[in-house]
Amino acid sequence: MADSGAAPFRILDLTAAYPAAREDPYPRLADLRARCPLHRDEAGGAWLVARMADARAIFADNSHVKNPDRAEPAAHAIRRRRNTVPDGLAFPDDQRASMLELDGEEHVRVRNPLVQALYARIARFEPECLHIVDAALDRLEDRAGFDLMKELAEPVPVSCIGHILGVPLETLATFRAWLDGIVQTFNPNRTPEDVAALVAASNGLAHYIRTRFADAKFNPPDDLFGDMARIQADGAPLTDTEITYNIRGLLIAGNVTTTDLIGNAVRLLLTHPAELAKLHAEPALWPNAVEEALRYEAPVDFTWRIATHDENLSGWPVSAGAALNVFIRSANRDEAAFPNADAFDVARPRAARHLSFGGGAHICPGAPLARMETKHLLSRLFTRFPNLRLAEPDTPPHWRHLPGFRGLESLPVRVD
Ligand code: HEM
Repeated sequence: MADSGAAPFRILDLTAAYPAAREDPYPRLADLRARCPLHRDEAGGAWLVARMADARAIFADNSHVKNPDRAEPAAHAIRRRRNTVPDGLAFPDDQRASMLELDGEEHVRVRNPLVQALYARIARFEPECLHIVDAALDRLEDRAGFDLMKELAEPVPVSCIGHILGVPLETLATFRAWLDGIVQTFNPNRTPEDVAALVAASNGLAHYIRTRFADAKFNPPDDLFGDMARIQADGAPLTDTEITYNIRGLLIAGNVTTTDLIGNAVRLLLTHPAELAKLHAEPALWPNAVEEALRYEAPVDFTWRIATHDENLSGWPVSAGAALNVFIRSANRDEAAFPNADAFDVARPRAARHLSFGGGAHICPGAPLARMETKHLLSRLFTRFPNLRLAEPDTPPHWRHLPGFRGLESLPVRVD
């Protein structure tokens, strides 16, 4: 049944911004799938799409777009990021170049060269990925316990993307601080301090990326900046802003998400010892375990598409201009797609049919990198520290409050 009357709750209430959903979002999502697979959030002017079949149909239909300007006037939530650009940003208009919000030929023109260069770098990255993972684990060798988020889940993804971008080791700490500040972009309830941190971090990173690209054009280094400088010099029709803003996008899209995947996966394995035992007995299952962690505890709540013509979803009509929020976290637990969907099963057949990386033309281009990092980090962590366990087994998980993402603030563990 579609609920198009007064909204009983907002989409935001299904995210980590709301305490009950932060603790456990799944019962309410199950209720939506069963009773109201298409829910209208009047405040945000958006539809929430809860079932896997509708989500897949939306991704598969290329008539759907992502540019918020194409959404109906009531679709406030989808325009929020554009309309809440804080004062003081050095390059406030650059976000119009983001591949996240481009469609059709413009999207292909901007996305393809950058993503092809990224894929080529990822394909050669495995030895360095192992080196980064092993070095991070080496640093913990003499410790009895540590915060897994701080020591592994946060630094490893930044070091990996930092290597692909040729960020020198001595700059990585500043780089991480900028990314931490920029996460506030996703926070609709920013304090003045959050805004100040966001502006400072955003400007610091923007200047760094612009300078690196300007230098790369004179002397292309062996990294993604050099690749893009060469591709542009060879005639790819890309402006400097399109390149630099989307390199920034890779960083932001790939940072908190991979951190959350690693933290969520470790917590799941520590709280499901029978699943961990399966992995010790059959290490070939590690890639599937990563997929199952992605499915079971998706790092990202939802992505969006905008309808360009009138259509039906779960038998209910939506009009052109409708902002459709595909609720990934809900589709991933849909019994119609995954039998016994609320069970965490590292040997689950077809676990990789989850939607955690979105789908269609905008599917996440960082997926191979996130999968590689997580697989190596998990398998080596659990081999290196056979006594790894939760330091606070009786304390509820420390979920972050950032809406849109599901990840841990901290994950104290012991290894002694
Ligand atoms: C576990 C880690 C990750 C998750 C769960 C994740 C999830 C997502 C999702 C849900 C989308 C939206 C897709 C859609 O609308 O169909 C997306 C887009 C994107 N992701 Fe990721 N991501 C992850 C890691 C990464 C990494 C490591 C990078 C970069 C190295 C990255 C770069 C991007 C970019 C650039 C887009 C925009 C693509 C477009 O609009 O064409 N992501 N990601």
